[in-house]
Formats: sequence, C-alpha cells, structure tokens
Amino acid sequence: MLNQNIKESTTQAHAKLEGTVVRQLKAVRSNADYADVLKAFYAYFNAVEKTIAPYITPDVLPDYAERRNSSHIKADIIELGGNVDNLLQVETPTVNNALEALSALYVLEGSIMGGPYIVQMLNKYGVQQGTSFFSGYGDNTHNMWQAFVTVLNKHGEDPATHARSIEIANETFSRFGDVFTQLAATE
Ligand code: HEM
Repeated sequence: MLNQNIKESTTQAHAKLEGTVVRQLKAVRSNADYADVLKAFYAYFNAVEKTIAPYITPDVLPDYAERRNSSHIKADIIELGGNVDNLLQVETPTVNNALEALSALYVLEGSIMGGPYIVQMLNKYGVQQGTSFFSGYGDNTHNMWQAFVTVLNKHGEDPATHARSIEIANETFSRFGDVFTQLAATE
C-alpha cells in the first residue's frame, strides 16, 4: 500500500527533519523563542496548504475543513504575543493532481504524531502556552490518521504512481528543512 511505501521511503527525511526541529526546540528559552519556531512552521504549512488547495476538494478529503491547519499555528503565535508579519520566503513542491497534493499533505498531517513529544519538550523548557497546533487531535489522532491514510491509499492504488508520490513527500520534508536553515541564518 502507498502509505507503507511512503513511510519506508521517507524515513531518512523524517529523521533529518526531526533532528532539526528538536535542535530548534532545545534552544527555546521563552515564549518569544517558541513563537519564532512556530513562525517558521506557519510560513511553510500555510504555503503548502495554498499549493495543494486546488486539489484537496471535499470530494477528495471530506473532513479536510475539520483538520488541523496553519490557522491553529497562527492562533498559537498570537497567544504567545507574536505576529505573522515578515514571514520567511519558502519554496513548496509543485503539485499537479490530487495524489501529489495528498502526498504533500501526508507530511503535514503526519507531523501531528510528533506533537505530544514536542509539547512535552516545551513544557520542560517552561513553555505552557500556544500548544494547540502540536496538541493535534488529542485522543482522536489515531482515527484521523487512519482516515487520511485510507484516502491516500485509494488515490495511490496504482503502484506506477508511487515513485512520484514518494518524490513529493521527500521534497515536502526537505523544503521544510530549508526553512530552518534560513531561520538559523537570520539568528
Ligand atoms: C520533535 C519532532 C518530531 C518527533 C519527535 C516526531 C516523532 C514521530 C513519531 C514517534 C512518529 C510515529 C508515530 C506512529 O507511528 O504512531 C512520527 C510519524 C510521522 N511524523 Fe514525525 N516527529 C517529529 C517531527 C515531525 C515533523 C516536523 C514532520 C513533518 C512536517 C513529521 C512528519 C511525520 C510523518 C509524515 C509521520 C507519519 C509516518 C507514517 O506512519 O507514515 N514529524 N513522528
């Protein structure tokens, strides 16, 4: 199934990005530091959402409107006293159909699974506010992920489509990493 194939083929990209995000979070000492990390998430997630929007119609993913998205990141930034002005410039993968769009969304949706670990880390560094985005779907996380994966697999029934799908997912991971490289350069 496509989801298994993507998971195996993006393991390295995930590990690399996870390392980058953990390093960023370890440097958080205040709400303002955390808001800066969230701003990088916002710039990227918002841009990817815009890129995929034409293809993620209600027919494709009926519960899309109920899913966590960058508006939650924005709300968290504002709760922390920050704003979404002067965002970093980001590049997103180019997608041309529903499957490619779902393959990029796989990366955004999957980030929810790391959320509880991120919230734990933040609590350790004294940050208690602005965690609605990383709290994801709470107890419903497993069900929401299964529903997403079912849609992804349905669109990726033809194994001939998998290589492109994997390419998009890997690019979605790596371009997010580029945003943190840029963030580090501004610090
Ligand atoms: C501190 C950072 C992170 C940690 C500790 C983390 C941890 C995890 C863990 C434990 C899982 C597996 C959950 C399971 O199989 O039940 C997972 C899955 C996943 N994570 Fe992360 N993650 C982090 C950051 C991210 C980020 C920033 C993204 C993307 C923007 C991401 C994308 C994914 C994806 C796509 C999956 C789903 C893999 C699959 O089952 O197909 N993660 N993560």
